[in-house]
Amino acid sequence: MMIVQGDFLVKGAEASIYTGFFLQSSVIIKQRLPKTYRMQQLDQTIRLQRLRAEARIMTSAWKIGIQVPVLLGINIDDQSLLIEEIPGELLFTVMSSTTRIALETIFESVGQQVGLLHENDLIHGDLTVFNIIIGENNTPWLIDFGLGQVSVEMERKADDLLTFYNTLKAISSDFQVLFEAFQVGYNKEYSKGRKTIEHTKKIQSRARYILPEERLE
Ligand SMILES: Nc1ncnc2c1ncn2[C@@H]1O[C@H](COP(=O)(O)OP(=O)(O)O)[C@@H](O)[C@H]1O
Ligand SMILES: [Mg+2]
Repeated sequence: MMIVQGDFLVKGAEASIYTGFFLQSSVIIKQRLPKTYRMQQLDQTIRLQRLRAEARIMTSAWKIGIQVPVLLGINIDDQSLLIEEIPGELLFTVMSSTTRIALETIFESVGQQVGLLHENDLIHGDLTVFNIIIGENNTPWLIDFGLGQVSVEMERKADDLLTFYNTLKAISSDFQVLFEAFQVGYNKEYSKGRKTIEHTKKIQSRARYILPEERLE
């Protein structure tokens, strides 16, 4: 594989990301580095599991037509993935520079992508505003599937929604309006969307420490 490795881009929560060129396209190389605080053997197993999960879920999502970057290669030896680079900004960044009205439209289309994912029994596993890139024409792209899985269980899908809702709540005072816009898109694409949202509320009400005014409406 002829890859021209370029600059170091970013150190994520899990991996180091480098930019590069492959077949005249911009790519990123995502490499999971050893975590020294974990036992070596266990660490190796965990990293390999996540690499495989990421490759599998990303490819399945791509086949269905969900907006995810194309996986171009896997290197098991150095635990890296070669992935299409998506030009854009993280949803987190976009949120601080975009009007609420425009954000509502963006959140509706994020909801559609997540709805499509769940309709096809794919779970993201770490659905935060740091794992969604907003590209050209405000198109949302889902990234970072290392904790992804295939599951028909409503509980797993509700976990995705709860993670998303909680990160939203932590960073924006408009979280309720934005989550409503998300739900509109989600329900459009996912036939069991409403039921899953109901289930999410149930999980949330089990956590008694959540104040009534902070609950998902
Ligand atoms: N396909 C991509 N195109 C452009 N940037 C990306 C892409 N994948 C990851 N990134 C950038 O690298 C960061 C870390 O990648 P991510 O897959 O989320 O790894 P981690 O597991 O370390 O969080 C992202 O927040 C984003 O800024
Ligand atoms: Mg990430």
